[in-house]
Amino acid sequence: MIEQSKVAIIGAGNVGSTVAYSLAVQGVCHEIVLLDRDKERAKGKALDMSQAAAAIRSHTVVKSADSYEDIRDSRVVVITAGSPRKPGMSRDDLLMINAEITKEVATEVKKVAPDAILVMVSNPLDAMTYVALKTAGFSTKQVVGMAGILDSARMAHFIHEKLGFGAGQIRASVIGGHGDDMVPLPRYSTVAGIPLTDLLSEKDIDDVVERTRHGGAEIVGYLKTGSAFYAPGKSTAIMVEAILKDTKQIYPCAVYLDGEYGYRDIVNGVPVMLGKEGVEKIIEVTLNEKEKEMFAKSIDSVARLIETLKKNNFFEDTK
Ligand code: NAI
Ligand code: 2OP
Repeated sequence: MIEQSKVAIIGAGNVGSTVAYSLAVQGVCHEIVLLDRDKERAKGKALDMSQAAAAIRSHTVVKSADSYEDIRDSRVVVITAGSPRKPGMSRDDLLMINAEITKEVATEVKKVAPDAILVMVSNPLDAMTYVALKTAGFSTKQVVGMAGILDSARMAHFIHEKLGFGAGQIRASVIGGHGDDMVPLPRYSTVAGIPLTDLLSEKDIDDVVERTRHGGAEIVGYLKTGSAFYAPGKSTAIMVEAILKDTKQIYPCAVYLDGEYGYRDIVNGVPVMLGKEGVEKIIEVTLNEKEKEMFAKSIDSVARLIETLKKNNFFEDTK
């Protein structure tokens, strides 16, 4: 029987443990299980976090897994297993390494938690969401990738830097893939309900868009030994909470498109309603010609990654 609020996190590295910590201290679920190929890392982090939860008297218990058996019947499984981006390395460089890891992990998860909702985080995000879907046998509603919430939060932050006011009142909107061709949508971004286009000049908006597109690389450049994890972790926890609590809230997420926006058999970021079934609805927003062009470019970037995987016979032994 599915455990209504058991969450498994595969990969107890920077992002995975930040997701777990956020969920644990908010008491979003009753049990979190951390699974990492480095079992000692998972054990140490689980103990530390469970003790933090005890300190604040949260009912959440954090455990580590010895094997996939320990994540059996999880309601939500977050996949962060993989290699992070290093300075000078593009997200695409991670493609083959993380595709193999994703295939292995998603297949193992399917055996023990076939009804779970999978929240993909590993990069390159859109391609890994596609890999999880195509290799493990989950339905398209069950697999959703995290990126749009993070990219929108980055855009909101950069808007605030330009304006110098409005913190907490900025709703930025980014769709498209999680890469340099992502599609920030200033037309759909507001500050306290006021259109961004009424508050910033075209030049300032262009600066915000450019900085958002390279928001991940900017942090990698400073950290040097890894990539961002606080905002990615929190963004993922928001999705997990929406699924567990069946909130039906709308967030930009990476999902399988089957005709929506005019594309098929591809994953890309679009507004999605999240609930207990996972991806419960895909919302099609009206895009102008320029936005459609940007979206097409973003689709093309993801399609090229999938093409590379196909050329390397990656999907050969999958159904
Ligand atoms: P990390 O290196 O800190 O953690 C990755 C963890 O995965 C490590 O603990 C490693 O031992 C584990 N792992 C690797 N292979 C495994 C396997 N087969 N089974 C179980 N565990 C395995 O990396 P970090 O910073 O946590 O990032 C994780 C992934 O998330 C990376 O691919 C990164 O690029 C991506 N990412 C995606 C974001 C997004 O917006 N979608 C944002 C930030 C990171
Ligand atoms: C980020 O955007 C590396 O995808 C990761 O921070």
